[in-house]
Amino acid sequence: MIGNLSNCNSILITGASRGLGLQMVKDLVKRTERPKKIIATARNPAAANELQEITRSFPGVHVVTLDVVSEPSIQSASKEVAAIVGPDGLNCLINNAAINISTDLNTVTGEAMMKTYGSNVVAPLLVTKAFLPQLRTAATAQNNVGMGVNRAAVINVSSVLGSIQLNWGDGAQFKSYAYRASKSALNMVTRCLATDLEAEGILCLALHPGWVRTDMGGPMAPLSAEESISAVLSVISSVTEKDHGGFLDYTGNTLPW
Ligand SMILES: NC(=O)c1ccc[n+]([C@@H]2O[C@H](COP(=O)([O-])OP(=O)(O)OC[C@H]3O[C@@H](n4cnc5c(N)ncnc54)[C@H](OP(=O)(O)O)[C@@H]3O)[C@@H](O)[C@H]2O)c1
Repeated sequence: MIGNLSNCNSILITGASRGLGLQMVKDLVKRTERPKKIIATARNPAAANELQEITRSFPGVHVVTLDVVSEPSIQSASKEVAAIVGPDGLNCLINNAAINISTDLNTVTGEAMMKTYGSNVVAPLLVTKAFLPQLRTAATAQNNVGMGVNRAAVINVSSVLGSIQLNWGDGAQFKSYAYRASKSALNMVTRCLATDLEAEGILCLALHPGWVRTDMGGPMAPLSAEESISAVLSVISSVTEKDHGGFLDYTGNTLPW
């Protein structure tokens, strides 16, 4: 699959300060066929040195402050983004920011569960709600094309660890009540959004980026951030109505819920 994102005018990524979110920005800016407006959000942009460096070196990268667990921050980012995208609206929202607190049966606490749900489930839902006006504008403006990132799409970065079916046998070795349950719930949120937004032409998808060497994935992971994101962006650039409401991995294969 060769990614071509030139028909996606604008893309917004949450959690672009490091890890996979930052790699998405690094990959996108170097493409000749890239979204004109890359909106890289971070809760503390001043501390995101690599991201700041990219904005100085490449045109069309807008850094916006967004703490996904803060409703005032979401509202203020939504206003800022509306001004950036203007009458074209927002073509692609990538809910990437997330946390993973280590929680096996011995260590899991109510606080860890709630905190993880806040970041990984509630935040992507509220962020999506806040950017719906801009996504709707894009979906309406491009209503002569099918579904995809050239029109309007919400990509929720999920995990194979959220698959209930695969949490058995070998697939059950990674123990994390909070993270696994949060990604299962994110998958359900994705599916609910998909049913609600289908008529408006807004594609919604849960996407597993692979096990990747980031702060979250750790040093033993088989994929580099470059390998994961190159594949993820290829998948994102090619999704159509047939993928709407689905749960895909970075190779484009469907995962079991
Ligand atoms: N790495 C893997 O192997 C793997 C596998 C499957 C799925 N995923 C998913 O891929 C996504 C990215 O993971 P990653 O490996 O890049 O993780 P990471 O290296 O830990 O980076 C997490 C990113 O999320 C941001 N973030 C966390 N809470 C935030 C908040 N409240 N507001 C704004 N930003 C926030 C962090 O910002 P700060 O710098 O401000 O902390 C950071 O930019 C996540 O959804 C993760 O669940 C990763």
